[in-house]
Amino acid sequence: MLLGVNIDHIAVLREARQVDEPNVLEAALIVARNAEQITLHIREDRRHVKEHDLETILKHCKCPVNLECANDEAMLSLACEFAPHRVTLVPEKREELTTEGGLNLESKGILKAIDTLKSHDIEVSLFIDPNEASVKKAAALKADFVELHTGAYANLHSAFYTNILKTPYKIKELDLSRFELRSRLEKELERIKSSANLGLNLGLKIAAGHGLNYKNVEEIAKIQAICELNIGQSIVARAVFVGLEQAIKEMKALMNAS
Ligand code: PXP
Repeated sequence: MLLGVNIDHIAVLREARQVDEPNVLEAALIVARNAEQITLHIREDRRHVKEHDLETILKHCKCPVNLECANDEAMLSLACEFAPHRVTLVPEKREELTTEGGLNLESKGILKAIDTLKSHDIEVSLFIDPNEASVKKAAALKADFVELHTGAYANLHSAFYTNILKTPYKIKELDLSRFELRSRLEKELERIKSSANLGLNLGLKIAAGHGLNYKNVEEIAKIQAICELNIGQSIVARAVFVGLEQAIKEMKALMNAS
């Protein structure tokens, strides 16, 4: 299974002081040596990575680059100008801390966006919720990839297996009995598996990501139909203590043990 490391949070740290440390290119070069893909999300508000990061990464790193961006005119023209290996279209809300759900595939202009990116020789992935309707629609739109949103799975896993519900970071909507949590977690994992299988049968390549960490990644990495995971927060958080190279190696070891 391939690993794309999302380096947005390296830039979050840099932007906290608006200096050039930690250096985003340095992080990207470490990812290029230890994983299979560099993933980054240029947001409308440029809160972390920016155009110049993408430009220098494309210039200096040999491994494929997966640019996540919203389906809007300015972002698409930026994507076509830089032409990374892949663009993953994601929903974006200014007020959210991170991408909260999958794309609305009925939204205006999605087909045109896919065609435009493909005409620039860019592979197109759609970040979708793991359900049958979204997978079928993504196949009908002729996307190359779908990335299944694992955020709901990650929240349920955390609520069931950790003490988060008793901490200030509790996930309010998951304040449920352990019986209910277990049942929802099993259902969510099943939804991801069946969406991945369906997508593969319909000719899509399947990635997954969001909220994956060292505790919950193994169940997802066992799903044969998924060929790639994109992981950011947990790897960058671990890197603070052990360094980025080691953090990536530990994640890859868990993925490949499955
Ligand atoms: N995949 C997509 C499409 C994302 O938007 C994100 C978050 O930017 C990730 C993966 C990585 O999520 P996390 O930082 O929770 O690992």
